[in-house]
Amino acid sequence: MNILVTGGAGFIGYHLIEALLKEGHTVVCVDNMNEYYDPALKEARLARIAERIEFFKINIADQAALESVFKSHSFDAVCHLAAQAGVRYSVENPFVYAESNFTGTLNVLEFSRRYGVKHVVAASSSSVYGENKKIPFEETDRTDQPVSTYAATKKAGEVLAYAYHHLYGMNSTCIRFFTVYGPFGRPDMALFKFAKSILEGKPIDVYNNGNMRRDFTYVSDIVDGFVAALSKPLGYEILNLGRSNPVQLMDFIKVLEKELGTKAQMNMLPMQQGDVPETYADISKARKMLGYEPKVSVEEGVKKFVEWYRSYYGV
Ligand SMILES: NC(=O)c1ccc[n+]([C@@H]2O[C@H](COP(=O)([O-])OP(=O)(O)OC[C@H]3O[C@@H](n4cnc5c(N)ncnc54)[C@H](O)[C@@H]3O)[C@@H](O)[C@H]2O)c1
Repeated sequence: MNILVTGGAGFIGYHLIEALLKEGHTVVCVDNMNEYYDPALKEARLARIAERIEFFKINIADQAALESVFKSHSFDAVCHLAAQAGVRYSVENPFVYAESNFTGTLNVLEFSRRYGVKHVVAASSSSVYGENKKIPFEETDRTDQPVSTYAATKKAGEVLAYAYHHLYGMNSTCIRFFTVYGPFGRPDMALFKFAKSILEGKPIDVYNNGNMRRDFTYVSDIVDGFVAALSKPLGYEILNLGRSNPVQLMDFIKVLEKELGTKAQMNMLPMQQGDVPETYADISKARKMLGYEPKVSVEEGVKKFVEWYRSYYGV
């Protein structure tokens, strides 16, 4: 297939492109390379795939620029991952979330419709479940009470995708990712920040006094599920992709300490605004519809992350 990947210089987008290329697809990537975190990491990801893809540095909120990419290519499918990520950042910087996650998503859907794209697979987030008390989180659970601006805009993306399916019969699949980690991961996420601080001998910030559980999911498992969804247009579907085996934050830190061979100094802090105490994916729907089965344990995944971190940063 001829596939457009938005946000392909990002953490998950980059890994997805590697997988799509391996499967023999042709890939075009758009990304605005913004400075939310060090763009050098985005450049480094891109450098590894640059010769095998076509890349356009554009903002998906820029209608004219995005339309020209759709116009000059005939895409069979779109993998929409471009977004302003980060729960905590969204509380202080709401406007960029409206621009990238709402307007940007609307533009991707509208040009997909205008230019005859048959299937849009879009990244959503476990954050749409808010403070859902019912565990594990099922796709049918309530998602109309987000506790961050980020979550609200990711939910908006899902409902926009539904409207496009309803109006135009477009296949749209929204995938709710659960705390993804792995090599080339995001510097604003816990594992990266913890590893960096521990290796620099600095204390790590542990929110809610460590009383949190996260369904940490290794990036290759997410990519496998995403590729399976791409090959199976289903009308409109929402699917969780997680490991379905949440880990206490303090246990996660222990795994990292063991891998780094160093004890962490910890700054115990209260819960941050916009954050949720627990995430836990019910993945029975993805199992049934896609044959999805996460394979990588937290021990194995953290080991691979640390190996990458040490070699990439030479520490
Ligand atoms: N990493 C996770 O744990 C996680 C969890 C849930 C959902 N998600 C979702 O998965 C997707 C990918 O996340 P990621 O972790 O790889 O983040 P990332 O920030 O590494 O990747 C996003 C990419 O999109 C690009 N981008 C942002 N706004 C853009 C715009 N307006 N125009 C063009 N490009 C733009 C960024 O430059 C970046 O390269 C996002 O949609 C995110 O909301 C991620």
